[in-house]
Amino acid sequence: MLQRPRRNRKSQAIRSMVEETKIGTEHLIYPIFLKDGKGIKEEIHSLPKNYRWSLDQLLPELEQCMKLGIFTYDLFPAVDEGLKDKIATYSYAEENFYLHAIRKIKETFPELVLMSDVAMDPYSSDGHDGLVENGQILNDETLPILNKMAVAQAQAGIDIIGPSDMMDGRVKSIREALDQHHFTDVSIMSYSAKYASAFYGPFRDALNSAPKSGDKKTYQMNPANKREALIEAQLDMEEGADFLMVKPALCYLDVIHLLKENFNIPITAYNVSGECAMVYAAAEKGWLNYDLAISEMLLSMRRAGADAILTYFAKDFATLLKK
Ligand code: PBG
Repeated sequence: MLQRPRRNRKSQAIRSMVEETKIGTEHLIYPIFLKDGKGIKEEIHSLPKNYRWSLDQLLPELEQCMKLGIFTYDLFPAVDEGLKDKIATYSYAEENFYLHAIRKIKETFPELVLMSDVAMDPYSSDGHDGLVENGQILNDETLPILNKMAVAQAQAGIDIIGPSDMMDGRVKSIREALDQHHFTDVSIMSYSAKYASAFYGPFRDALNSAPKSGDKKTYQMNPANKREALIEAQLDMEEGADFLMVKPALCYLDVIHLLKENFNIPITAYNVSGECAMVYAAAEKGWLNYDLAISEMLLSMRRAGADAILTYFAKDFATLLKK
């Protein structure tokens, strides 16, 4: 045998030298759920180790996570049912606790990068990402609502807008609205290839945002389709997106790879709630090693081509890296 690949694996030093994929805390985006009130830290039943935080509890938590090297956070509001309506009015209301929280976090930690979803579901009495009329999700009528939501978040100090609604034309619409309000520096990380997935369950529990009727298949993509992801990504890029996201991540590593090969802006992957919940549950039963499993999962997303990864494992993984 002239070629013995095992020679390049014979010691830790050599294995490290030839390691192809690197992952560090700079690649992590930590999703965080916010709730109005004080003294609140409620664990999410289907997503252990993740909480609905009130602002006062969250600030020290953010400080701790920053010490671990996590500087980018994706925030989501858990909104009281009574504040939801058909047109998501609360999403851009003056008194919106979430917008106030964004402002306060940016004031306290100006070095943090804050991202926020733009979609109607956390604020909608229908539990859909767009405007519902007679059981239909109306595309063009949804866009002005998304624009108002995005501008309100930008006014509060958000750094990255994440349109997760999958309406056609939303990136262009939001980009123009931001620019008209002089927020030319606010970025857009578009949920480009977002699939109608079974893995969003724990997230919908966290926000109580599941659709009241029907499903999201007329706007989120069919898991069977890969070439369609190229169309979505192409449109988002032409419409002004700064990042293209693939979501979920683990079942869609091929799509991450496809976008990485075809587009020259950063590609991100959303390691969604259900993917993390599976690992929490199996580890709790002692069926797999949590530290090894999350490391391998996140590494595989980077290997597939993700520049950054949104993951509920962010804090645990950063803690591991520190060790
Ligand atoms: C809202 C949104 C969802 C997620 C992120 N933004 C759920 C959905 O589309 O129903 C899922 C994230 C996760 O499961 O971790 N549009």
